[in-house]
Amino acid sequence: MSSYPELHIDPRRLEADIMALAAFTRPDIPYTRLAFSEEDRQAREWVKARMKELGLAVLVDSAANIIGRREGKEPALGAIRTGSHVDTVRGGGRFDGMVGVAGALEAVWALNEAAITTRHPLEVVVFTAEEASVPGHTPFGSRAMAGQLNMQAALEAPTPDGTPVREALRRLGGAPERLGEARLKPSQVLAHLELHIEQGPELERKSIPIGAVTAIAAPCRGRILATGRADHAGATMMADRADALCAAAEAVLAVERVAKGFPQTVGTVGTLQLSPNMANVIPGRVEMDVEVRSADAGHLKDARARLAEELDLIAGRRRVKLDLEWLSLEEPVTIPPDMVALVEESAGELGIPCTRIISRASHDSARLAPVLPVGMVFVPSRGGKSHVPEEWTDFEQVALGTRVLGRALLKLDARL
Ligand code: GLV
Ligand code: MN
Ligand code: MN
Repeated sequence: MSSYPELHIDPRRLEADIMALAAFTRPDIPYTRLAFSEEDRQAREWVKARMKELGLAVLVDSAANIIGRREGKEPALGAIRTGSHVDTVRGGGRFDGMVGVAGALEAVWALNEAAITTRHPLEVVVFTAEEASVPGHTPFGSRAMAGQLNMQAALEAPTPDGTPVREALRRLGGAPERLGEARLKPSQVLAHLELHIEQGPELERKSIPIGAVTAIAAPCRGRILATGRADHAGATMMADRADALCAAAEAVLAVERVAKGFPQTVGTVGTLQLSPNMANVIPGRVEMDVEVRSADAGHLKDARARLAEELDLIAGRRRVKLDLEWLSLEEPVTIPPDMVALVEESAGELGIPCTRIISRASHDSARLAPVLPVGMVFVPSRGGKSHVPEEWTDFEQVALGTRVLGRALLKLDARL
């Protein structure tokens, strides 16, 4: 028997919070709350109000990360943190990120109701701009905390509505002129635990409600620029063309081919911009966002090299320039074994089945991993779907994940 109190986690309160956040969306494209948008700002204000209701002291750091602090018995100790993000992709879901925020708030509710004061301060975090809204500079808030942000370039980069990050950050309460101050000081935070949906099919297929994450695959993101020659679509014979879109189409297939050539590796071209983008003009220029992901650093490196070779071959054959620039090269993360064990033991003590799992999606925790111990608790995603409006996890499943999170926080508090 463990000596930890059983926290009362309420699935209905989790549901209410997750659905309240879901209401902050662009009405024309549910569920869209892009980082730095007005919807994002409003959702963040909602979270801040909720934090205050829970008695947390709310602080917004210079990178606009929201931190709600629950004081511990020994305030001089470093904090234990939990939390995730509330920004979404375009046409995304209601659970990716929000489950980790609602779960963190619910754990605090439960601690309050049980009148438990931890030894360490407990901090609930909402990270700024986790999704790939500012390619090359996201996740923004966790990178700033880990001191991994190219600050000058990030501040000049455009947010989805074109406003530079520098200005958009102020709207969220950040301070661009003091961005460096968001970096964590040694011993300021002792560990971060993130509850998240799996976003893949494994837990559902195995009918296991909890995943203890052992590794996080790294997305390497870049841009491919195809430069051909715009020309008249009727008067330019096929032999005389340098069609940037035809070369780009081959480049997209090369990304697919290369990724398939490495085990457990994926590759995607997610955006495409044509110029001049007219029905009767041969495309002269195409810009695409590309990413390659793997939990194996060697595969990732080799896949990037092979893609560069393939693009050179296509460019030579088509007489179209294909430039590939990597904007962010991340490393796969191994979760510290004691943090994996912490999640497993917490689930075990509560009698909740748990399995080890690799995270194929990326997370703020991955960016924090170089500077502090991180752990992740996964709950199943229906049909393995994520980054789409159909994304779903039953609230009872979210509640199980939150129970594991709550127990793990108490165990960390005792252990650290
Ligand atoms: C974040 O959701 C990512 O993995 O792209
Ligand atoms: Mn997420
Ligand atoms: Mn996501």
